[in-house]
Amino acid sequence: MLRIKIQNKYYLKCTVCSHITPNFWTWFEQEQQCPKCGSKHSEVWYNRRYQRLKRFTQGEPESFWRYFPYLPLLRRRHIVSKKEGAIPIEKWSFLEEYAKTKYGLDIDVHVCRNDLNGGTGTFKDIAASLAASIFKEIGIKQYCIASTGNSATAYAKYLSLAGVNCSVFMPEDAIVASEATISSYGQQVFRVMGDYAKAKEIAAGYADMHNIPMSTGNIDPIRIEAKKTMVFEWLRQMDKFPDVYIQAVSGGTGPLAIDKGIREIKHVYEDLKNPRFLLVQTDGCDPMVQAWEKAEAAGFPEGFEKDYPIIDNPRTEVPTLATGNPGTYPILAKLVQKSGGTFLRMKEKNLASVGKLVAYEQKVIPGPASAVCIAGFFIALQKGLIKNGETVLLNTGEGPNRAPLFLEQMIYTTRKVRNVEQCKPHEIENFREQLWNEVTP
Ligand SMILES: Cc1ncc(COP(=O)(O)O)c(C=O)c1O
Ligand SMILES: [Zn+2]
Repeated sequence: MLRIKIQNKYYLKCTVCSHITPNFWTWFEQEQQCPKCGSKHSEVWYNRRYQRLKRFTQGEPESFWRYFPYLPLLRRRHIVSKKEGAIPIEKWSFLEEYAKTKYGLDIDVHVCRNDLNGGTGTFKDIAASLAASIFKEIGIKQYCIASTGNSATAYAKYLSLAGVNCSVFMPEDAIVASEATISSYGQQVFRVMGDYAKAKEIAAGYADMHNIPMSTGNIDPIRIEAKKTMVFEWLRQMDKFPDVYIQAVSGGTGPLAIDKGIREIKHVYEDLKNPRFLLVQTDGCDPMVQAWEKAEAAGFPEGFEKDYPIIDNPRTEVPTLATGNPGTYPILAKLVQKSGGTFLRMKEKNLASVGKLVAYEQKVIPGPASAVCIAGFFIALQKGLIKNGETVLLNTGEGPNRAPLFLEQMIYTTRKVRNVEQCKPHEIENFREQLWNEVTP
């Protein structure tokens, strides 16, 4: 822990009234909000020269901590890391070939597989690593979070590593494997009888009652700062900045952070602009898609972004994405519109088929939320949303160990046998057509 609070590396600035909060000690003292206007949306800015960033976006770093000068931590000794956030971006040629043969498109398809992260193998590891490090530095000992699983799992692990207690509020339908993981680290789980919105509500009450800080969700400056390093990683790893970005969306920290990252360095990288955001939800929980379709049909009238439905107790097999009340939609919708992107809906009944196909072609088994993202790629092609010559980036958030029941749906080659005569050798090739037909009939 560091007691000297005077520093000039970074500051937080309110996005509504521009009030400056000098550091994270003060930010937490003022209950993670602007003392002047009450907004919870502040952004971190740095008194740094960005010319130096070019030196950092080279080589083979171990983690996103390579970008330490542009992260809101003062002392490296407080870093809590498990090698996250500098994962190799893969090129998936089977998707490129498909786009070529079926649609005549020459495109580059890259996949950032967050299951390769060292902490818990999800999207959430970098944010949890930064949070744990900041808490270690400023001396926070108790924290709480409401989560459908992946955030909580990551925070539970990294905060344990930092010696911070983390109370986790999970909705009734959260995946048991996540609950078990969190519990195994010794962190407290509260399973809330109700949906994600209910879990958030109880967590907020608990935070209030015990004066424990709680994650403020998708606009949490800690999460945004961690995830903005995605942009730095693209500069480091990709020959060309992506034209199209596809992600399964729940609250939308991903696109918000990309936008922040680009604004932060635009004065040195003048040509950078947001990729077109194609954000995917399933038909089990699609409030953003519904809102977007309505706005689109009406020609995006003034204030369209404020009009969105709230889905109570969404019935979905992908609890990771079960944000029925998308509070960030107003900011996100504007961002997506400006980027020239859109929101897409995939059918949950196709999830396992997408999973099987990817495992067969790429030998990578996606978790359910990752399958949602990849399904979005196929839908984008079908709708003509990707143009010839473009570079596409799929950001997949999790592997299959998140959801054992999803993994079980991958079984399709098994034959039950009683004697040796029933067992015959097979040809892997023979499965291909069947698998493709399931995904793109
Ligand atoms: C695997 C996975 N994909 C996608 C998401 C959606 O993330 P975002 O907060 O950017 O909507 C999450 C988080 O909820 C996730 O864990
Ligand atoms: Zn303010």
